[in-house]
Amino acid sequence: MNNIFTEITDKIDFYRGNNAIELIKEYGSPLYVYDERIIKEKCRAIKALINYPNFSVNYSAKANSNLHLLKIIKDEGLNVDAMSPGEIFVQLEAGFKPEQIFYICNNVSKEEMMYAIEKNVLVSVDSLSQLELFGSINKGGKVAIRFNSGIGAGHSEKVVTGGKNTKFGVDENFIEEVKKIIQKYELKLVGINQHIGSLFMEKTPYIEGVKAILSIAEKFEDLEFVDIGGGFGIPYRKQNKETNLDLASLGRKLDEIIKQWVKNYGKEVTIKVEPGRYVVAESAVLLGTVFAVKENYDIKYIGTDLGFNVLSRPVIYDSHHDIEVMRENSMPSKKMEKVNIVGNICESGDIIAKDRTLPEIFEGDIIGVLDSGAYGYVMSSNYNNRLRPAEILIKEDGSVVIIRKRDELEDLLKGF
Ligand code: LLP
Repeated sequence: MNNIFTEITDKIDFYRGNNAIELIKEYGSPLYVYDERIIKEKCRAIKALINYPNFSVNYSAKANSNLHLLKIIKDEGLNVDAMSPGEIFVQLEAGFKPEQIFYICNNVSKEEMMYAIEKNVLVSVDSLSQLELFGSINKGGKVAIRFNSGIGAGHSEKVVTGGKNTKFGVDENFIEEVKKIIQKYELKLVGINQHIGSLFMEKTPYIEGVKAILSIAEKFEDLEFVDIGGGFGIPYRKQNKETNLDLASLGRKLDEIIKQWVKNYGKEVTIKVEPGRYVVAESAVLLGTVFAVKENYDIKYIGTDLGFNVLSRPVIYDSHHDIEVMRENSMPSKKMEKVNIVGNICESGDIIAKDRTLPEIFEGDIIGVLDSGAYGYVMSSNYNNRLRPAEILIKEDGSVVIIRKRDELEDLLKGF
């Protein structure tokens, strides 16, 4: 194999001696390839975020809910957050105990809320009307409430979940109403939570959010936990030398704030965080194949099987993923050129990487889309009746296991 443009994966020995082209031959193209070692490293790093001892990391499984990956994360000692009964179902199947699962729901039906209650999973509600619903079906029960402290952050307007322009959380101006509903149904408020948004690289907005949620927490007595949210970013532009989020300095600041707050509150409450992307994003490369190369009115297009049915982030959020190039024969690329890497979906927005300067690419080349472990497979679809790819895992010893089969044509007829 000719590693034409693979500096980032080479540096960390991502494939652990495996050959990406051989993996595609064996498991089909496109293909999600995960590196177990990276998931474990990230779990350990985020668990060491703060020194404060009552600390729980709840992996936000919406980022990647593959059963096998959930088991690795569970074995690393993380707890888990769920967003739907489906996620609870899969998490129980992965071996998480009900008390390790936290259901942070938004606008759910009575049946969906009941599912969690019956499974003994703690529910966080995020509106007065959902708190009423919870009280009416689980009088005297334990509950958590998601607040919106007015602070938001994120890589795109679409993923800012706190602040004055979002649907999430209870506005703190409604604390009196919250207390009345809690009293009416004799509920026990065990914790409050927030999530200001997804992907911050600078600590300031997160710290501001933490201060804000802790000041809301002071208005409630005898809480068991305060959940300060997820959103920890990863560098998607490594080829441009983007550096990691400075977890150590963030952790030091958090420790300082939390220790002081706990002293004032008078109780060693548990502090939770709920990272999704941080745990899994860098653990996967999405591989695809080049089937056509062409020029249309001076723009060069590299046509691949990496449509937005496989990875939708670039199309939905204009997200950037670094691109690598591999080639089976030893033909060198003689020049660098600006290209658009596009998929096989019948929409002109189907562009996975725009205006990228890369070594000349030919039919048959393999493209690696880096950092695709979070919000990759979980947001894939069967649009255009395309088959969702397989997912494989490179274990710590370098051996490869399939962790999700590629769809088959018959899957498209399920339900008919
Ligand atoms: N907690 C709650 C309540 C959330 O809504 C989310 C993500 C998280 C935790 C985890 O956030 P993270 O640590 O992964 O940033 N599809 C988008 C991201 C959507 C995030 C939605 N909420 C993307 O591909 O960038």
